[in-house]
Amino acid sequence: MAKPIILTGIKPTGSLHLGNLLGAVKPVVSLSQNRQNQGFYFLADYHALITVKNGQELNRYTMEMAASWIALGLDPDNVVLYRQSDVPEIFELAWILGCFTPKGLMNRAHAYKAKRQHNESRGERTLDAGINMGLFTYPLLMAADILVMQTRWVPVGRDQGQHIEITRHIAQAFNHAYNAQVFVLPEALTEDTVAVIPGLDGQKMSKSYGNTIPVFATRDALRALIFRIATDSTKPGETKDPDNSILFQIFRAIATKEETDRFYQQFVEGIGWQDAKEQLFDLLDRYLTGPRQIYQEIMHDPTTLRRILEQGATKARDQAQSTMKVVHRLTKNQLV
Ligand code: ADP
Ligand code: TRP
Repeated sequence: MAKPIILTGIKPTGSLHLGNLLGAVKPVVSLSQNRQNQGFYFLADYHALITVKNGQELNRYTMEMAASWIALGLDPDNVVLYRQSDVPEIFELAWILGCFTPKGLMNRAHAYKAKRQHNESRGERTLDAGINMGLFTYPLLMAADILVMQTRWVPVGRDQGQHIEITRHIAQAFNHAYNAQVFVLPEALTEDTVAVIPGLDGQKMSKSYGNTIPVFATRDALRALIFRIATDSTKPGETKDPDNSILFQIFRAIATKEETDRFYQQFVEGIGWQDAKEQLFDLLDRYLTGPRQIYQEIMHDPTTLRRILEQGATKARDQAQSTMKVVHRLTKNQLV
C-alpha cells in the first residue's frame, strides 16, 4: 500500500521570519520526519506572483525559502521538495477544476473578501480595486496543488482551513460529475497549540507590518533587532509581567521548560530589560547557529540547490502525471 501523502506549500514572498519559523516551518519539519507518510513540500512561487512582480526577487525568495526549509531540517532525500512552477500539471488541473467550481465559492474566500472590505472601508471607487484574478482564484490553484498529488493531510495554519474546505468541495464536485473516486479528499492538520509570535512592536509578527525578526539575519543584525523590541518603562529591580512581555513570548516559544521557568522567575525578581534582551539574544543565537551555517552553505551553492529542486520536480511530476492520466480519460475520453 502506498503511504498517505502529506503536503504543504509556502509562498516565497519575503525572507523567513521568526513567526513563520515557529508557526509554520518547525511543525512541518517535525511532521516530515514521520516515515508513515510520504511528504510533498513545495515553494508556491506562482501564488507569490500575485504580489511579487519582479523576477529576480521572486527567484531569490524561492531559493531562500527552499534553503531555509533544508537548513531547518527538511531532508530532500526523504521528502519531495519542489517549486510549484516546475510542475505544469498543476496549472492544467487548476483550469479543469475551475470548470467544476461555482463562482460563488470564490466570492466567499476570505482573502478576496477581506480585500473588498478593505476597499469599502477606504471608500474606493470600486470594491475590486487592486484585486487581480490570481488573488480571486487563489483557492482554485491551491486545490490543484493539493488534489494533483492525491494528498491526504495538509499541515496549515488555522487561516488556511477555509481553503481546505473549498478544496474538498471541488474534489467532490469532480468525483460526482464522473461518478468516480478520482481525488482523495484532503484534511487540514492544524496544531492548536502553535502560538502567534509577536513582532518588535507587539502586533503579530508579519511581513505586512514590517515588524519582523528575519531568521537568517547576521548575528549582529539579530542582536540589533532584539534590542529594538518594545518594552515598558519598569526599571531594573521592579517586578515585570512575563505574560505581557514580547521578549518572554518569543523566549517561551523556543526555550525548554526549565529555561522558561527560570526566565519567568527572573521577571518576577525584576530582571532589567537590557539583561532580558541579552538572554533572548543568547538563546536565539544558540538555536540558530547550526541552521545558519547550513543555510549559508546552501546559499553559496545555488547549483546544488537547483539540482535538488529539479529532482523534486521530476518526482512531483511523476505523481501529478498519474493523476492527470485519469483526469484526461474522464474529461475527454483520452486513453493514454
Ligand atoms: P506574513 O504574515 O509574514 O506574510 P505568511 O502569511 O506568509 O506570513 O505566513 C506563512 C506561514 O507562517 C503561515 O503558516 C502562518 O500561519 C505562519 N505565521 C506567520 N506569522 C506568524 C506569527 N507571527 N506567529 C505564528 N505563525 C505565523
Ligand atoms: N496558501 C498557503 C499560505 O498562504 C500556501 C499554499 C499554497 C499551500 N498552496 C498550498 C498550503 C497547498 C498548503 C497546500 O500559507
